[in-house]
Amino acid sequence: MSENAFIEYDGKRQELETMIGSENEVGVDITQLRAKTGMITLDPGYGNTGSCTSDITYIDGDKGILRYRGYSIEELAQKSTFMESAFLILNGHLPSQSELDVFERGISAEAGLHHSMNSHFDGFPADAPPMAILSSMLNTLACYNTELLTTEHEGEAFDLVVSKIISKVRTIAAWSYRTSVGQAYMPPNPKLSYSGNFLHMMFSKPFEEYKIIPEVEAAIDLFFILHADHEQNCSTSTVRMVGSSRANLFSSVAAGVGALWGPLHGGANAAVIDMLEDIHSNGIALSDYVDAAKDKNNDTKLMGFGHRVYKSFDPRAKILKGHVDRVLEALDIDDPLLDIAKELEQVALNDEYFVSRNLYPNVDFYSGILLRAIGIPVNMFTVMFAIGRMPGWISNWREMLSQNQRICRPRQVYTGENLRSYTPVSER
Ligand SMILES: CC(C)(COP(=O)(O)OP(=O)(O)OC[C@H]1O[C@@H](n2cnc3c(N)ncnc32)[C@H](O)[C@@H]1OP(=O)(O)O)[C@@H](O)C(=O)NCCC(=O)NCCS
Repeated sequence: MSENAFIEYDGKRQELETMIGSENEVGVDITQLRAKTGMITLDPGYGNTGSCTSDITYIDGDKGILRYRGYSIEELAQKSTFMESAFLILNGHLPSQSELDVFERGISAEAGLHHSMNSHFDGFPADAPPMAILSSMLNTLACYNTELLTTEHEGEAFDLVVSKIISKVRTIAAWSYRTSVGQAYMPPNPKLSYSGNFLHMMFSKPFEEYKIIPEVEAAIDLFFILHADHEQNCSTSTVRMVGSSRANLFSSVAAGVGALWGPLHGGANAAVIDMLEDIHSNGIALSDYVDAAKDKNNDTKLMGFGHRVYKSFDPRAKILKGHVDRVLEALDIDDPLLDIAKELEQVALNDEYFVSRNLYPNVDFYSGILLRAIGIPVNMFTVMFAIGRMPGWISNWREMLSQNQRICRPRQVYTGENLRSYTPVSER
């Protein structure tokens, strides 16, 4: 039973409806607040603002719960594949075998890129940031699919756009890497799994096929599952925001890539490796590093620590940590950064500053070590995140349109100058 809420201001009392979600989250519906009272709410950073209702992903940050369409991330990580989880996120149910076959065939069929996109890749400088290339090339896909620039979110045209984006994002990522290391495009191999094909396009040589190690293929697939959706984070909200203007899906997800790039969001996985390398190569004592991260006069942060939503632990970090050792063992790698990461985690978890602020390792803390061991260059880490997040972005875009949402247009409280007169430049 939902009870209504009341807001009292300037002697007037306004009743506001409440909405209770399926996990008993309570939201106060303020859609009529301005019309009825003239007031708006102020919530920079949106920490208290529900921007939508959603059936896709549920997070309980206090308990460390993450579920896609009701299935726990722990169970999906253990039993599912990225393709199956992507179908689940997009369609709301686990696929039957035939549904999964159709979905995977559709994605496999779209793995190639138009030959003339080669000239686009050639046009980027060799050291171009892969996230910039990814965002540009997702938008460029719109140029090659002008008949698909609709906001249809059901039916064959939509399914085709979904297949194109989920499939080609991985080809674009691999191609941008090859361009940066001076290697030619490696065509996809439809016989391989989604993640196996990605590894092949990244690392196969013209006359020497990359030997896919099952533990590595499984780890990449797991990485994609863990990143597949995370409800209304910065990049997903961006995709929804851009899509709310009825921009097409290619452009909407390209904008999502831009939002993901920042070090406070997807860019943190690369920042973690930079931090660990800094500690390792400069022999910095961990206690000194932690002290710097606590110092408010210092910009240093413990990268890979803290989360806006998770306040006990990030379940994805727990799952990933268990897999890092397995992959390093399969690849026979002994990475000193892993030892530093484990020690750093212990130092921080026993430090009052981090404990009292509920700062725990997030998914980015261990994912960098995993990707580095597999041979993914650090500047591609966030691209890997983007590949994994594609089903979530698309699903949120679709849900937003299916709810016929108005264009997103927040308001502000203006704090600038009041009206003043213009003075000619000679009098200033
Ligand atoms: C993720 C993050 C952006 C969340 O930000 P947020 O919800 O706005 O949290 P806040 O910045 O309000 O943090 C609360 C307090 O913890 C501190 N804090 C948060 N993360 C910290 C970190 N990684 N290192 C040191 N202090 C940190 C803040 O300075 C603040 O301290 P204060 O209360 O004394 O002012 C933030 O924790 C962060 O920058 N982490 C490092 C980057 C990262 O790993 N990002 C990946 C997210 S998946």
